[in-house]
This record gives sequence, structure tokens and C-alpha cells, in this order.
Amino acid sequence: MTDTDIRIRSEFPLIQENRTIYLDNAATTQKPACVLDAVRDYYERHNANPMRGLYELSMEATAAYEDARLKTAELIGAAQPEEIIFTRNATESLNLVAYSYGLHNIKASDEIIVSVAEHHSNFLPWRNVADRTGAKVVYFDCEPDGSFDTDKLAGLLNEHTKLVAITHVSNVLGRINDIRTIADMVHSAGAVIVADGSQSVPHIKTDVKDLDVDFFAFSGHKMYAPMGIGVLYGRKKLLDAMPPFLYGGEMIESVTKERITYAEVPHKFEAGTVNAGGAVGLSAAIDLVNRYGYDLMESRERELTKHVFDAMSDMPYVTIIGSQKSEEHVGIIAFKVEGVHPHDVTAIFSEEGIAVRAGHHCAQPLHKHIGIMSSTRVSFAFYNTLEEADRFLNVLSSIRGRMGIV
Ligand code: ALA
Repeated sequence: MTDTDIRIRSEFPLIQENRTIYLDNAATTQKPACVLDAVRDYYERHNANPMRGLYELSMEATAAYEDARLKTAELIGAAQPEEIIFTRNATESLNLVAYSYGLHNIKASDEIIVSVAEHHSNFLPWRNVADRTGAKVVYFDCEPDGSFDTDKLAGLLNEHTKLVAITHVSNVLGRINDIRTIADMVHSAGAVIVADGSQSVPHIKTDVKDLDVDFFAFSGHKMYAPMGIGVLYGRKKLLDAMPPFLYGGEMIESVTKERITYAEVPHKFEAGTVNAGGAVGLSAAIDLVNRYGYDLMESRERELTKHVFDAMSDMPYVTIIGSQKSEEHVGIIAFKVEGVHPHDVTAIFSEEGIAVRAGHHCAQPLHKHIGIMSSTRVSFAFYNTLEEADRFLNVLSSIRGRMGIV
């Protein structure tokens, strides 16, 4: 292990325990002590219901919550903090857009384009909108190498297209999609683009202005923050025009028996008591990311990916899903081992103390499109090491033998 490995790993209590070689980072990441401490400090020393009380504690809670919003806006380059809405996770963020924007702007004769590589969280909300409105869902298929051909998109866009849903980085393919080019095409067609940043924000520098997306969602727990805090970025003009998603406390300006007026964005979309502890944890996670920097995090993850990818490419019984170039995988490699079911592959890894994920990874349409039912996925974070990668490769190379395949 290098000094940098040791320094990074010392931040993460569960990683330091060395109980598991944790290579399921696309599912969720481990939590650094600074995040755990920040959450504890918030509840021990500043807890009150934010935005509700005119007393010191409540004002402290409000300040901590709004500071997290500002930091999140800065992290992803939002023009203003009001464009950041805190949710439970990316799934809730995408449902918010579907229920609030989708159901009020999409009608029976309209079309919604959804990429085949979407996690179910950016797929089912649009199917639901289509089912409720009578609109049609049109699928944007990827190529065998996991890329998206924009000429194909040009053939799908038409005057009926109202919305395009596509992931920035697929949780199976690990490939960065050219969201900016797609956004330009979508806007020229008069539609809006909803991008899922769940697998990009934790690993690569993202800027919603550069991407020119209308909506962008991600989860805190995939970038070292606690579970239960998610983010929706929305273009202010669109958010202002959208009706609330959830109704209740804290999202109103005034309520009488006759008339209700709603709070301004973002509070209009944050009904009920907010997850202030989660936001504080996210804020601390962003501090960690800024402290190490995306350059270092990305270069470490790319090095690990290349190392594993190159060795896997030399194993004739291993098929890597998507691109056959390591640089086109952002810390994620999904694969098949010939003759062994992904669940058995994963069980053998588990016996050896290595955590990887098996199944369809909440991306069943993608697996069907590729012509498989499931895969095994290894995914890295910047705290993983080359030693862990070698241990993974060592076990991988033994799997067929252990299953009695010679
Ligand atoms: N969405 C998470 C994954 O891809 C759970 O594993």
C-alpha cells in the first residue's frame, strides 16, 4: 500500500477494519469518519427543526441545511442554490420530475425517449407518466460497446418528443455519455433532458451548466454521504413553473380555507421536516471530495479499472459487458464468467471476503438488450488499492476451477 492509500483508508472506519474487500461502490460507498462526525455533531449540538423556529438552535439547523445546499450547488456548478432540491435519493428526485413536470407537461400525443441503459429509477417513472397520460415511451438503444449513436437519437427526436431521459454514466456499462451533445439535440427539438448523475458525480467532475441539462439527479450515499439524502438539480425557470410534488408542512407561503399559495423554490419541493442530518453529512462528504479533489480520485479509480480490466481481458472465459476499452469504464466493470452463473461468481467472491454485486443491477432492459439475464459487477472507489484489485483478480481466475470446470 502506498502512503496515499494509507492516508485515504484511514478516513474510513469500516475500510480500516479490513473485514471485507469492498468492491460494490456503485451500490453504495463506505462512510468516512468526517461524515459520521458531522452528523453526530449536528444532532448533538445544533439539532432543531430547520426553518421553523426563531430561536438560536433552529437558526443553526437552518444555516447548516442551507450551507449544504450552497455546497452542493457549487459542487455541480448550479447557477444558484435555489436550483438544488434535497430529496431522499436519486429515485425520489427522478420521481419528483416525473410527477411534477412530466404529468403536467406531457399528454397523450407526446413521446418520451428513454435510453435502454437506464437504471429502473430513470425508467419506471417515465413508464408511469406514459401509462397515466397515454404518451408513448420510445427507446434509445445503445450499441454493443455501450455507446449511444447520436444519429439514432436524431432519428427518434420529432415534434412529439417532450422529454429525454438518459444516464450520465450507466451503473452497468460505466461509460460516460456525451450529455452535452445530446442536450443540444434535445433542446433543438424543443424537449427537455433529464440526466441521472448517480454514477458520475461521485467519480468525475460534473457541471450542470456545461452539460446544459434541465434536470439532474444523484444520491448522497454513493458519494460517501449517509443514505436518505438525495439531490435534484433543476433549471430555475422550469422549477418555478412546476407544481409541488408532495404536499404538507413547510412547502407553503400561506394557507386559508379558500386559498393556498406555495413557498418559493426550492422549499416548494421540500414538504415536511427535512433531512437536515443527511444534508450535513452530504456537506461533509463534499468537503472530503474537495479536499482530495476529483483529479486524484478519478486517477486512482482509473488506474484500478485499467489494472483489473487489462487482466480480465487476458482471461478468455471472462466477457466484459460494454466497451472493450478500459478508459471507457468509469470505475465500473460488469462481466460474465463462462459457464458460471453470476450469483455463483458472487458467492465465491463473498466466501473470499470480497463484496461485488450480481444480478441485473436494476437495469433489466439493458441486460435484455445485450442478450443476457444478469452479470457480476465490480466497482471501485478511491479508497480501493491495487492489492485489493489483485486479490479480486486472483479469486476471479480460480472461479471456474472451483466450479469444476477445467
Ligand atoms: N443503484 C445501485 C446499483 O446500481 C443500487 O447497484
